[in-house]
Amino acid sequence: MPRDAHGHLTAGRISPQRPVPKDIERPEYVGRAEPDEHGHGDTYTAGEVERIRAAGRIASQAIDAVGAAIRPGVTTDELDRIGHEFVVSHGAYPSTLGYRGYPKSLCSSLNEVICHGIPDDTVLQEGDLVNIDITAYKDGMHGDTNRTFLVGEAAPAVQDLVTRTEEALRRGIKAVAPGRQVNVIGRAIEAYAKRFGYGVVRDYTGHGVGRAFHSGLIIPHYDAPHYDTVIEEGMVFTIEPMLTLGGIEADIWSDDWTVSTRDKSWTAQFEHTLVVTERGAELLTVS
Ligand code: MF3
Ligand code: CO
Ligand code: CO
Repeated sequence: MPRDAHGHLTAGRISPQRPVPKDIERPEYVGRAEPDEHGHGDTYTAGEVERIRAAGRIASQAIDAVGAAIRPGVTTDELDRIGHEFVVSHGAYPSTLGYRGYPKSLCSSLNEVICHGIPDDTVLQEGDLVNIDITAYKDGMHGDTNRTFLVGEAAPAVQDLVTRTEEALRRGIKAVAPGRQVNVIGRAIEAYAKRFGYGVVRDYTGHGVGRAFHSGLIIPHYDAPHYDTVIEEGMVFTIEPMLTLGGIEADIWSDDWTVSTRDKSWTAQFEHTLVVTERGAELLTVS
């Protein structure tokens, strides 16, 4: 039952778990309830950064493959199959599969779903927007990225939301420099989003990533001065703003994962993993 009488999304049928070849290295949390406490810090050597880049490239290329299949009539489960097969065929593990019990290899978040939508029998329709979020784990490192796609022709306001959310990410990335506090990132994103009256989601944030999927470092996307961690060269984290056409109140569905806007306003997101350089930031999730 993927949409109700108002056209709002509802939970669908989730397909059986997809297998991962035995020779692919699993993250430590797979088969456990919770990830280990990590506390290994958020800075990386040049060699470690190259391993995160290799994982991040696979994640980005997997999104390319999924994006090429996006059209009206396709189910989000089919998109999961494509992403899963791309990641495992490149010798990597899809980090979301078995993360705190999450059942699929990517997140597919449509329309009013902010994030963490579970692929199921939902059929994409002309005019939808859909975010695809993929994290790949290889050689001990995670790379995390997402993009939002339009399905066929979308309403002008939806097209603008998607374009401006990607621009908001770009502005957040441009704010990164060693010696600044992490709160400069959200300040730049929120200042831009406010011009258009968009909601800037606060309950979900960017995060440290690399040895751990989520390291404990938090990167807010709104102006949050108390997040005063100083950015250092060699730090690796994500920036992943979620902007809405309405409010920022969120509801979590009874599947314990899917997050939607309470007012059902549509929402878009873009995400990159980056490393802090001497002058700014370098993206690690490019194809
Ligand atoms: N990739 C998401 C992020 O950007 C996390 C997804 S966790 C999941 O942080 F379990 F929902 F898949
Ligand atoms: Co992330
Ligand atoms: Co992600």
